[in-house]
Amino acid sequence: MAAPKIQELKELTRIERIGAHSHIRGLGLDDSLEARAVSQGMVGQIEARKAAGVILSMIKEGRIAGRAILMAGHPGTGKTAIAMGMAKALGEDTPFTMMAASEIFSLEMSKTEALTQSLRRSIGVRIKEEAELIEGEVVEIEIERSVTSGAKAGKLILKTTEMETVYDLGAKMIEQLQREKVVSGDVITIDRASSKISKLGRSFARASDYDAMGSQTRFVQCPEGELEKRKEVVHTVTLHEMDVINSRAQGFLALFAGDTGEIKDEVREQIDQKVAEWREEGKAEIIPGVLFIDEVHMLDIECFSFLNRALESDTAPIVIMATNRGIAQIRGTKFRSPHGVPLDLIDRSLIIMTRPYTAEEIMNILKIRCEEEDVEMTEDALDLLTTIGSETSLRYAIQLITTASLVAQKRKASEVDVQDIRRVYSLFIDIKRSTQFLKEYQEEYMFSEIN
Ligand SMILES: Nc1ncnc2c1ncn2[C@@H]1O[C@H](COP(=O)(O)OP(=O)(O)O)[C@@H](O)[C@H]1O
Ligand SMILES: [Mg+2]
Repeated sequence: MAAPKIQELKELTRIERIGAHSHIRGLGLDDSLEARAVSQGMVGQIEARKAAGVILSMIKEGRIAGRAILMAGHPGTGKTAIAMGMAKALGEDTPFTMMAASEIFSLEMSKTEALTQSLRRSIGVRIKEEAELIEGEVVEIEIERSVTSGAKAGKLILKTTEMETVYDLGAKMIEQLQREKVVSGDVITIDRASSKISKLGRSFARASDYDAMGSQTRFVQCPEGELEKRKEVVHTVTLHEMDVINSRAQGFLALFAGDTGEIKDEVREQIDQKVAEWREEGKAEIIPGVLFIDEVHMLDIECFSFLNRALESDTAPIVIMATNRGIAQIRGTKFRSPHGVPLDLIDRSLIIMTRPYTAEEIMNILKIRCEEEDVEMTEDALDLLTTIGSETSLRYAIQLITTASLVAQKRKASEVDVQDIRRVYSLFIDIKRSTQFLKEYQEEYMFSEIN
């Protein structure tokens, strides 16, 4: 047998970046929707979290659509964090789209088109299909490369507890098997229609000869019965994905490129009709998801009225908006209104308030962030950072964690101490000191407007 030349694919190394909300893993609620003081990376903000939990269970039941929720509160009180918590708690099947209101002004499409796409990204369609699968344990894979043409050919032997069959392999299948790193002893399924291969795990029978497989290896039973089966497979796509795939101008490759451009109304109408048909036949189900619009006061009056209308459609998602504005001007008008959001939209929204944190809560959030950023900190340093957090802002205090840790590393200390916090506090100024500074030296800056 000619030695199979396996193309070496470069392993992708995953760089774990720590984002502002990477410590949030859920809403931290118990079964009766009460918020635990510190749980799943969430601290305090008990009422808002509980309210979010109530909304979450409405969404999970999947019966309501087209509700609007407004999260209002000071900057840095966890509005975005709670939205992230909801997204995590919803799981993968329910679509959750996050956007900043200002995004709609920077895309190469009209504002309403951008909003429509976001809304449709937030509606899932669960489609049931019957698929023909081949499911079995790999006994052997044989791949040969023709000396003259270089083309690959091969054989795959699969078995269940009752039978064993040899399959001929084409080039496409070989490539997939190699990409998925399928070896004998793996239990795999092959979708006949798309020839997509998925690895289910390793057969229990091989559990002993591979001690070195690592702890992530999942062991499964060797499948029973026939190798070829019909199975009901369920997959969820969003309306937007269906729009893009069916929009002839774009094609599904646009999904990966991300530049979908504007989508014609006719395409959307066709999709909606098709989905309605499927629903009637029991083939598909609508899953209303969540559209989160951060900094919603950045939308203008046209967008607001469009949203108002869109919420009335029976395939509308739950729209969660967040704002830190008080009474503010509605963009595109000369009128002012609470949160910079028109009254008719506020009127149909449930409002969740977030309130400023106590010192203890700030300390707990900082502690969680230290863990997340892998920083050791002494009690005293944490106390000082907490005071800084209460006097300036939570965000500013969070920023100082990694910077202080870098300063500590410079002096070869393993723990951040008070001196490091002092050092970064003097290196990086917060808003109050920055404003103070500007007031003192305003003449030296351009466009100075403070009197
Ligand atoms: N209750 C909380 N529990 C844990 N972390 C929080 C909490 N509230 C805020 N944070 C964190 O503090 C920072 C600022 O909060 P953020 O949600 O961005 O505020 P907002 O969106 O209200 O302006 C973020 O890093 C966020 O993850
Ligand atoms: Mg925010």
